[in-house]
Amino acid sequence: SLVDKANYRHFMAKEIHEQPEVVGHTLARYVDMASERVSLPVKLPFDFKDIQRVTITACGTASYAGYVAKYWFERMARLPVEVDVASEFRYRESPLRKGDLAIFISQSGETADTLAALRYAKAEGAHTLAVVNVPTSTIARESETVLQTLAGPEIGVASTKAFTCQLMVLASLAVAAGKARGELSEEDETKLVHGLVEVPRLMADALTTELQIEKLAHRIAKSRDVLYLGRGTSFPLALEGALKLKEISYIHAEGYAAGELKHGPIALIDETMPVVVIAPHDRVFEKTVSNMQEVAARGGNIILMTDAKGAAEATVDSLVTIVMPDMASAFTPMVYAVPVQLLAYHTAVVMGTDVDQPRNLAKSVTVE
Ligand code: G6P
Repeated sequence: SLVDKANYRHFMAKEIHEQPEVVGHTLARYVDMASERVSLPVKLPFDFKDIQRVTITACGTASYAGYVAKYWFERMARLPVEVDVASEFRYRESPLRKGDLAIFISQSGETADTLAALRYAKAEGAHTLAVVNVPTSTIARESETVLQTLAGPEIGVASTKAFTCQLMVLASLAVAAGKARGELSEEDETKLVHGLVEVPRLMADALTTELQIEKLAHRIAKSRDVLYLGRGTSFPLALEGALKLKEISYIHAEGYAAGELKHGPIALIDETMPVVVIAPHDRVFEKTVSNMQEVAARGGNIILMTDAKGAAEATVDSLVTIVMPDMASAFTPMVYAVPVQLLAYHTAVVMGTDVDQPRNLAKSVTVE
């Protein structure tokens, strides 16, 4: 058949491993390698210079891609972004003005709440832009602009490769916005494009952590609850990590902004609840280290995903480190998504759940 598991035990495993390739395809559609410029495949019907406000609306994993994109748009294009899950956005009737940009993200392009939110934004006169994986979908048909992710068919109910391809499209769009708004120079753009271009290779490197993660999964599988922490763009990734784990292993997990630790989740810390910390050595790394110290001081066991520099600087007890490739760009979420997905996947395999078809979940939620 067109879509089979190849040599993998589950579609999810195959789809995790396909990511360097499909994220690479998506990159090639949005970036002109020769000129080292972002080059969108469609002409936008608006100028980013005129946009004052952006909303991003989606459900589930796609909404976490939106949260990551908010950090990129605000930093690279100085453009304020609000992110919402579609079920809230549509009923809150958030005021939109003509000329605002409303972005919708959906793998299937058929999610009922996201579609309703798109129709609302259109009726309000906003520019609508959809990031979708299925170009013939309803959301693609009804949106003013469509930016396609080239993930190929995604069969596993828990989204993996669609997520990282969404991030690639949104990263490219944020660079384009920064350029159009005069916030990024040509030199900045070249540097950012270099950062994007190296992502598929770094994702392939990240896949080499799999054996270590498989072993760790046996420990995670013994836990009742797992906490995921991250700051900056690693915060939405912490949310995604917790979502993935609960979706397919049925182990309760929560994602938190690392800085919120002391406002609640610290009360739960003991030696039985693993704490997964996602912390590339970036501008907020030191802050996250102090949160890890707070966890360690209370007997918590930490699984740290960081690069070599971060590993050298994170001097904390009870620590297992998953060493990730070094990267200088702000595009770490695409690369760190890999160990996050692998940890959920292998834990589910240890638990013996139906990984590709978890109970009570649907691939595409076309009813409200
Ligand atoms: C379901 C799927 C998730 C997905 C979400 C949004 O809950 O199980 O994996 O993230 O829907 O789907 P969409 O197709 O709109 O991205």
